[in-house]
Amino acid sequence: MSGHAASAPTPIRLCFVCLGNICRSPIAEGVFGELVRRRGLHARFVVASAGTGDWHVGHPADRRAIAAAAARGIDLRAHRARQFRVDDFARFDVVVAMDRSNHAVLQRLARRLPTPADLRLFMPYVDAAARGESLDVPDPYYGGPEDFERVLDLCEAGCAGLLDALLAERRL
Ligand code: 4NP
Repeated sequence: MSGHAASAPTPIRLCFVCLGNICRSPIAEGVFGELVRRRGLHARFVVASAGTGDWHVGHPADRRAIAAAAARGIDLRAHRARQFRVDDFARFDVVVAMDRSNHAVLQRLARRLPTPADLRLFMPYVDAAARGESLDVPDPYYGGPEDFERVLDLCEAGCAGLLDALLAERRL
């Protein structure tokens, strides 16, 4: 064989992180996964999510998150919450925090690493018109259905922006 056969490129491993890993980050994971499948790019990505907190470890996604995602063709029923651990920085190429508070927690955790982590905030990938002023995907846990719709809207916009950015960075 010559070396020209299309060898599978190493996938980009992404982890979205929120607080409980039952609302925002599973939604972002599901939206990103659906987006790369639709674009025929699923082999190039490994997508996961985690929470900085441990209250919901092992639990399914919040039923309101499952319902809001299902209405947009995204199935979150298989999700089980887990807590982000410092070794996840080695397991993932890019770690994306859903808000500044979780970003700060992750930044502190990353100080233990021998090399800098690729740790990012999600909201800058949402176009400015959809984003408004805030740099946080608002926590919908104590909110209503409209708050989950807003998370879905932000995740759809931000995942598209993030995918474009990653493809451009990697010249894909
Ligand atoms: P998430 O939402 O961080 O988007 O998964 C939350 C879920 C649970 C809690 C907070 C936020 N909680 O305090 O239990």
